[in-house]
Amino acid sequence: ARVEFLDYDVLTDRGWSLTDDDLFEKAAESGLDGDAYGEVFVEPRTNLLKAAEDAGHSWPFACRGGACANCAVAVVDGEVKMPSNHILSEEMLEQGVRLSCISLPVTDDLRVVYNIEHLPGLDELRL
Ligand code: FES
Repeated sequence: ARVEFLDYDVLTDRGWSLTDDDLFEKAAESGLDGDAYGEVFVEPRTNLLKAAEDAGHSWPFACRGGACANCAVAVVDGEVKMPSNHILSEEMLEQGVRLSCISLPVTDDLRVVYNIEHLPGLDELRL
């Protein structure tokens, strides 16, 4: 699967929102550096965090086991599956929040915002 990614810090800096329809189009045109915006390819049965790391990126994480939410990403387009979820609320799931350390792509194309630890509601979940 092909994953286009964007750093949440960019949204904070520029006053963009996760719900902006043209979020990734704006990002593509903004000359962002390759850590803040780009794409990675995810092999079958590989989680998003691992794929990002294999491509040389350092996305936040701690437990790697679906228990801390440090690795949370917001899936803006496409779909991933998580084998389990013990910490994210229904409301967060509805916003597209997923744990990248245990999320596998379902669709061929995905757009995710990583580094969303300061998204309201997530701060309290991080250990
Ligand atoms: Fe802890 Fe993913 S690193 S939930």
